[in-house]
Amino acid sequence: MSPSAEPLPEAELARARELLAGARRVVVLTGAGFSAESGVPTFRGPQGLWRQFRPEELATPEAFARDPRLVWEWYEWRRGLVAQARPNPGHEALVRLEARVPEFLLATQNVDGLHQLAGSQRMSELHGSIWRLRCCGCGDERLDRAHPLPELPPRCGGCGGLLRPGVVWYGESLPLEALQAAVEAARACDLAIVAGTSAVVYPAAGVATAALQAGRPVLEINPERTELSGLVAVSLRARSGEVLPLLVA
Ligand code: OAD
Repeated sequence: MSPSAEPLPEAELARARELLAGARRVVVLTGAGFSAESGVPTFRGPQGLWRQFRPEELATPEAFARDPRLVWEWYEWRRGLVAQARPNPGHEALVRLEARVPEFLLATQNVDGLHQLAGSQRMSELHGSIWRLRCCGCGDERLDRAHPLPELPPRCGGCGGLLRPGVVWYGESLPLEALQAAVEAARACDLAIVAGTSAVVYPAAGVATAALQAGRPVLEINPERTELSGLVAVSLRARSGEVLPLLVA
């Protein structure tokens, strides 16, 4: 039976509603599962990208140095998938939540840009964006939603250097200020929502653990159990696109 066919857990829903009703400082951490209902594949799990592909061949600086065209072909394929995707009701619910909470920060591990497309503003992309291109030569960066790109691998219009996807690869640092802001907000929040992530990839998952360590209530939304499930105040076994609109109604 698919997780969405399960009845929504009423007791946990009521508890989650209570937490949300009183919250004035909210931090949200999202992951690939948040975009699953938009048709964007996740990384882990039975249909996950990492079942088909090896991250060390496609998502590291060494892989790109070895074979930039191969890496770009994979990103082009994913840009194509994401180009067809639209924000789902979960993305829209977070926009409504942001509008009513005085202190709000959405930290996402997703590179698909769907939160921005929905209208989220107070947010940071901890793993960059699949729509950003960065020159390995002059460091110039630009947003480019063209799909397909006219040439692979793409080249910088300024210096002619190789362009790379503006995402964070394994072995690379996350944008420091964005990560620190998210961790600090998590320590000081009165509710952290962790939705659609397996929460196993650090340091991004540290946003969730920072809230837990500071004794802040954490609401997890995920159809599957994760390593966080036993530690959080409420673990809602549900799809984010189904349950968040109910919680933020
Ligand atoms: P994962 O693929 O590891 O986890 C997705 C999570 O979403 C799983 O726990 C699913 O159970 C859950 N899920 C699936 N459908 C859902 C739905 N409709 N609603 C809510 N949850 C759902 O993705 P991430 O945790 O984002 O990094 O992975 C973290 C990082 O690992 C990614 O940013 C990427 C990847 O390697 C890099 O590429 C650096």
